[in-house]
Amino acid sequence: MVERNRGLIFVPMSITIDRHYPLQALNTFGLDVRAERFCRFHDVESLKEALEAAQGLPKLILGGGSNVLFTSDFQGTVLKNEVKGITQIYQDGSCVRLEVGAGEVWHDLVLHTVEHGWGGLENMSLIPGSCGAAPMQNIGAYGVEMKDTFLKLKAYHIQSGEVHEFTKEQCEFGYRESVFKRKLKGQYVILSITVQVSKDPILNTSYGAIEKELEVMGAKSTVQSVSEAVIRIRQSKLPDPAVIGNAGSFFKNPVIDATLFNEIIQAHPDMPHYPAPEGHKLAAGWLIEQCGWKGKDLGGYGVHDRQALVLVNRGQATGKAIYALSEEIIRSVKGQFGVDLEREVNIV
Ligand code: FAD
Ligand code: EPU
Repeated sequence: MVERNRGLIFVPMSITIDRHYPLQALNTFGLDVRAERFCRFHDVESLKEALEAAQGLPKLILGGGSNVLFTSDFQGTVLKNEVKGITQIYQDGSCVRLEVGAGEVWHDLVLHTVEHGWGGLENMSLIPGSCGAAPMQNIGAYGVEMKDTFLKLKAYHIQSGEVHEFTKEQCEFGYRESVFKRKLKGQYVILSITVQVSKDPILNTSYGAIEKELEVMGAKSTVQSVSEAVIRIRQSKLPDPAVIGNAGSFFKNPVIDATLFNEIIQAHPDMPHYPAPEGHKLAAGWLIEQCGWKGKDLGGYGVHDRQALVLVNRGQATGKAIYALSEEIIRSVKGQFGVDLEREVNIV
């Protein structure tokens, strides 16, 4: 219990506010930055207290810090989400619904469902971060996205102090997009998500790499084996943030129109591409590799040598240097292919 002096009255508070708090262990780039003020909240009451104490200052809601790039110390209050709990709220013969605290670790939720043999989340095994951040950018991997099992979420409206519910439609999910990244940006703190998983799962092994990995493992397709295959594929491609700082894909895969696509594919018939509702989706990793960036080391930071879409902090880089590198990459892809890359990572 910490007491805060508000004029003449001492108000008991359930939160602790730390000053100049180190964030290196709380962002997967491992950047050595500090928050001017830092506090953890674990329910609506402590969130309200934290927001009240942060009034008038810039605020950042932090989950696992696996999709942020800090370009400097944070001159405001970082509010770390620690709302916990996985509650089974419904089940019948075919499905189970779980309401999950936003501060739960995403991969722990996936493992919980996989251990029960419930299907739906297995392709998204090992994505870092918290459950509350998962709808922010509609996380996805290996042909499956958050929206596919999503039912609803509860979020705290900072301005009114009310808790609002959002259905799937109201979240306006898109490729690495949701309403919370666009028109409601900065207005809500997600408190919980509700997902529906299946007792009679239809497995999605449409990504060729999963089928191949199952073969290598000599395993039949089950919820457990698909999860294991995805974990193995991810470990072979993506750097482990505990070893090399990174935030996964730094850019989104760009979607381009037919005219530009036809121009590029004529010159590069082997270029990977996928159909998309608004045109053609390209692989940003391929474009960046073609521009010569893959494996680039600029002295402690650079581009991963197995996945050009991942920028890495190999030592003591600053967020500013990594941001400047991302600018250079955007410029060179635009120059060589005429394609605009958009950052996936949130710049703070
Ligand atoms: P943070 O980085 O803490 O926050 C991200 C953003 O969401 C920030 O703007 C933050 O303010 C906001 N936010 C966080 N929590 C809340 C909340 N409760 N309420 C309101 N706003 C909030 N992503 C994929 O989609 N697919 C992948 O395959 C994938 N692979 C990855 C692999 C690696 C190695 C790494 C490091 C990252 C990867 N990512 C991937 C990105 C990342 O894991 C996801 O974006 C994840 O959902 C981020 O969760 P987090 O809790 O760390 O969010
Ligand atoms: N490629 C290259 N060079 C590279 C990297 C990739 O040529 O350096 C080519 C690959 O050969 C392949 C294509 O690009 O033909 C796609 O590569 P990959 O399958 O590795 O997937 P990705 O498009 O790079 C996306 C997501 C990942 C997700 C994987 C698996 C985005 C921005 N990234 O990566 O998500 O895990 O697919 O589904 O959509 C993340 O969002 O942080 C993330 C890691």
